[in-house]
Amino acid sequence: MKALVLSGGSGSRMRPFSHTSAKQMIPVANKPVLFYALESIAGADIKEVAIVVGDAAAEIRHAIGDGSQFGLAVDYIHQERPLGLAHAVAVARDWLGDEDFLMYLGDNFLEDGIRAPVERFREQRPSAQVLLTRVPDPSSYGIAYVDDATGRITRLAEKPAHPASDMAVVGVYCFSPEIHQAVRRLTPSARGELEITDAIQLLIDDGATVRSETISSFWRDVGTVTGALEVNRAVLDRIASRFDGHIDHASDVSGPVIVEAGARVASSTVIGPAIIGQGSHVVDSVVGPYASIADKCDISSSIIDTSIVLSGTIIADVTRIAGSFIGRDVTLVSAGMSRAHRLVLGDHSWADLPA
Ligand code: TTP
Repeated sequence: MKALVLSGGSGSRMRPFSHTSAKQMIPVANKPVLFYALESIAGADIKEVAIVVGDAAAEIRHAIGDGSQFGLAVDYIHQERPLGLAHAVAVARDWLGDEDFLMYLGDNFLEDGIRAPVERFREQRPSAQVLLTRVPDPSSYGIAYVDDATGRITRLAEKPAHPASDMAVVGVYCFSPEIHQAVRRLTPSARGELEITDAIQLLIDDGATVRSETISSFWRDVGTVTGALEVNRAVLDRIASRFDGHIDHASDVSGPVIVEAGARVASSTVIGPAIIGQGSHVVDSVVGPYASIADKCDISSSIIDTSIVLSGTIIADVTRIAGSFIGRDVTLVSAGMSRAHRLVLGDHSWADLPA
């Protein structure tokens, strides 16, 4: 069995971060979400992987290389334009050959990995297998209608306006080579994409076995800032303390906290779970819970929790930052007594400011 990891796409909901980086490379607990995906694939005993890449090909290739750091053999397939999940399968047709394959959306995170469902696919060999999970806002997802009596999927709909089911399709699919004939028959959807849900629907209509499995463990994609912060929380909830950097005697550290090598915590409170990246300095501040501070950041006289801060960012004299996603090399300082907010925000940025 091979694995196809989809890491192209336009990432419009993850702007402005997707202007400068692939959303699959967004760090959660200081590690790109795509790395967790590759670890899960290796954990399911799949070795041959192709990553479908678009505009951010160079960044992804640079980080993953030949995949040996994950125990995988990784190839790259270029998708000229993000014309849909099924289009990515069509682009990878030759590489996939006539083998069964796992399709993993590179911005998805599954807390419990994929070993068990992949094993069941291998045992039962249906034409396709999808994972489902209940969601509170079904109109944002691909939705499955399941026959309660048989447990079989009767219909799939991509982001329906008026969903009559709350079972969302998780971004991890298993396919037999039958999917290729279905993909060949597709025409673009209303949003101009070749939809994988339409291809699976064709299999269902042809009477093929499409099995589903419902998961209840944590699943999210980092397609939005909210999703990234939720994944960050879930990953931080599982960390164990490790202090490779320096914490001075005037600091107070509680709960699971990682302080990476070269990081320095002085006269500060760190409330776990939290992670402070290599070479970052935290001085006279309160960090955490649920804060991921990347490398080479400088945080002084500030309070920050439930946030992701990317590398090289400076935060000084700011109280309090929460629920935030702050990019690379950002400077965030107090305006002192000024009553005006002075903002330099890039394209497609947004900020919630106190009234
Ligand atoms: P989506 O999040 O559905 O699409 P997107 O990346 O274009 O994002 P947005 O809707 O915010 O503009 O994509 C799911 C995953 O599949 C993600 O990892 C990107 C990848 N993908 C491709 O590789 N090729 C494609 O043509 C599309 C649409 C997505």
